Amino acid sequence: TLATPSFSTSRHQIAGLSVAELAKNFGTPLYVYDLSVIEQRIDDLAKFDIVRYAQKACSNLAIIDRMRRKGVVVDAVSAGEIRRALAAGYEAKDHGIVYTADIFDAEALELVLEHNIHVNCGSPDMIAQLGERRPGAEVTLRINPGFGHGHSQKTNTGGEQSKHGIWHSQIDECLRLADQYGVTITGLHMHIGSGTDLEHLSEVCEAMRRTAMEVGRTLTSISAGGGLPVPYSESETYVDLDKYFELWDTTRKQLAESFGHDISLEIEPGRFLSAESGYLIAEVRSVKKVGDNLFFLLDAGFNDLARPVMYGAYHPISVCGGDGAATADRESVQAVIGGPLCESGDIFTQREGGFVDQRSLPMCRVGDFVILENAGAYGFVMASNYNSKLRAAEVMIEDGEAKLIRKRETFEDLVRSEVIPE
Ligand code: LLP
Repeated sequence: TLATPSFSTSRHQIAGLSVAELAKNFGTPLYVYDLSVIEQRIDDLAKFDIVRYAQKACSNLAIIDRMRRKGVVVDAVSAGEIRRALAAGYEAKDHGIVYTADIFDAEALELVLEHNIHVNCGSPDMIAQLGERRPGAEVTLRINPGFGHGHSQKTNTGGEQSKHGIWHSQIDECLRLADQYGVTITGLHMHIGSGTDLEHLSEVCEAMRRTAMEVGRTLTSISAGGGLPVPYSESETYVDLDKYFELWDTTRKQLAESFGHDISLEIEPGRFLSAESGYLIAEVRSVKKVGDNLFFLLDAGFNDLARPVMYGAYHPISVCGGDGAATADRESVQAVIGGPLCESGDIFTQREGGFVDQRSLPMCRVGDFVILENAGAYGFVMASNYNSKLRAAEVMIEDGEAKLIRKRETFEDLVRSEVIPE
């Protein structure tokens, strides 16, 4: 089992490089990814036959290129993600790219057909829509087993309140549709949410077995979906990977025995592979008291990292001196960390429901750097241009070298598609 790391509120380096130097060379706000962490997490999952990265977590071409080179395949939830996968050198053959969604929009369907991409159907309609255009197709079905689990209700992807997947009692209908369109169901997939624990997992495995027996011998693969947690604070833990694998491996073996052929076992994490590699470096631009609250206001806001605002998500936060020095010897204070946006909710330290929280941090001065940690999953990819903020640059640290993998946006990028009619 992986041990929960300890999070320090003082930091002066990322992967051996100076935070202040990174900020000076690339500007702030800045996303930095330590590639070695991603590679370590890929190795941690070596027991699975197939590791499929849910690129929605962090889809920069450089990141998914490096994942491909490590033997990871990829998931795509949109036409854009299919194009990203192709641009990074992934191939559709042997399920190198799988389209996993609840609908096809017109563009995604055309891309899937053009490149012969395997589809994981999240609705019965997808079986019909694909079958019509690609007779003889092999498909995977994403099943909603009737229950789910997530770190927030918004990341729970199972149960009646979730729009995801094919409802578990509709397998008959799917088999009928498959028959009608000459489609073969070769895979089953369940992803019940982000933040799996082992208790829910045995229920998922049980549901997988039940559903697989209904579908029958055409099955050749099962997918455990994503959802592996990473600790965002010292009170959280990783899931026990050995036990997690055991449970799925047992399920796979039982099915293989019933069907008389091998069943491959796939896992589809996003967060587990990329979250801990990522840091959002911001500069402190104001230190002010508002009543009893001490605010540190940064040049990064929820346009850069939306998780605290959307889910009340907790991110570890550390401080680096503007001179590049660690801050461990500074006085510790209770502070609220906010961004530059014209919105009261633009606060990185808050709980779900929007309560402003204090965080114990080294006292800051204007010009210091605040680092939002574990920001490599659902960070940059959820960034927006709200308040006409330009999206941050992204840097990857590989072999001790900081490489720019996305330029900071420019004003021209921002207004490129806008038209003022005569
Ligand atoms: N597979 C499927 C079908 C999914 O829907 C997802 C996530 C994953 C895999 C990867 O889940 P992960 O291993 O990363 O937990 N924006 C939210 C997370 C939304 C996840 C949506 N689907 C957050 O920041 O927590």
